[in-house]
Amino acid sequence: MGCAIHPSILSADFVNLEAELHRISNADAVHVDVMDNHFVPNLTLGLPIVARIQEVSPVPLDVHLMISDADRWAPEYAELGAASVTFHVEASAAPVRLAREIRKRGARVGMALRPATPVEPYLDLLSELDLLLIMTVEPGFGGQAFLDVMLPKIKRARKAIEASGARLALQVDGGISPGTIARAAEAGADVFVAGSAVYNTPEPAKAIEELRALASRP
Ligand code: DX5
Ligand code: ZN
Repeated sequence: MGCAIHPSILSADFVNLEAELHRISNADAVHVDVMDNHFVPNLTLGLPIVARIQEVSPVPLDVHLMISDADRWAPEYAELGAASVTFHVEASAAPVRLAREIRKRGARVGMALRPATPVEPYLDLLSELDLLLIMTVEPGFGGQAFLDVMLPKIKRARKAIEASGARLALQVDGGISPGTIARAAEAGADVFVAGSAVYNTPEPAKAIEELRALASRP
C-alpha cells in the first residue's frame, strides 16, 4: 500500500510561508489548516492567503477546514485550485450535497471526523468521498499527543473502506511522529499529516523521508 506524507504548515513560520513551502518540496502535498475560532478555539488563515499559497506552492494543497459554515466556504477552496478539500462532518448541514459541490469544482473531497465522532453512521457516504480523515487529536492546535484510543476507529474505517470497494484515502492528523506513525499505518491509515514532527526539526525534508520510511515498513 502506497503512503503519503502531508506536512502541516500550522507549525511553519507564517511570516515566511513561501520559503517554508519550498523546504517541504519532497512532500506529497501540503496540509493547510483553516480555523475560524468558532468550530475550534483557534484562528489561522482564510481564502485570500490560501489562494496565494496555491499560487506559490511546489506541491498540491490538501486543505483541512476546521470552520463552522463548511457548506458555505468549502466549494471556494476547491474553486481556487486546491487538490483536496476536507470539511468536518460535524460542521456540514448537507454533507452529500457539499461533497458533490467540491467534486464538481475539480477537487478531491475529504470528510473529517473529530475524535468523538463515530465512523459508522457515515459508511454509506464513502462512495461520495476521496478521503476520510480521522482526527487523532482534538482539532485546533499543533503539537498535541497522538490519541491511541483512535486506533480501533482507524481499523474499523479501513475494513469498511475495503468492504465498500470505494477507492479512498484514509488520512490521520494529529500527533503523527516517528514514534506513532507505524501504529497508525498498521491500523490502516495511508495518508499522514505531520506538523510539528516536520517543521520543528532542522531539516523538514529529511523528517518527511524518515516518516515515509517508517509508514511504509511492512
Ligand atoms: C490540528 C491540525 C493539524 C496540526 C497537526 O487541529 O488539524 O493538522 O497541524 O499538528 P501536529 O502534527 O503537530 O500534531
Ligand atoms: Zn489538520
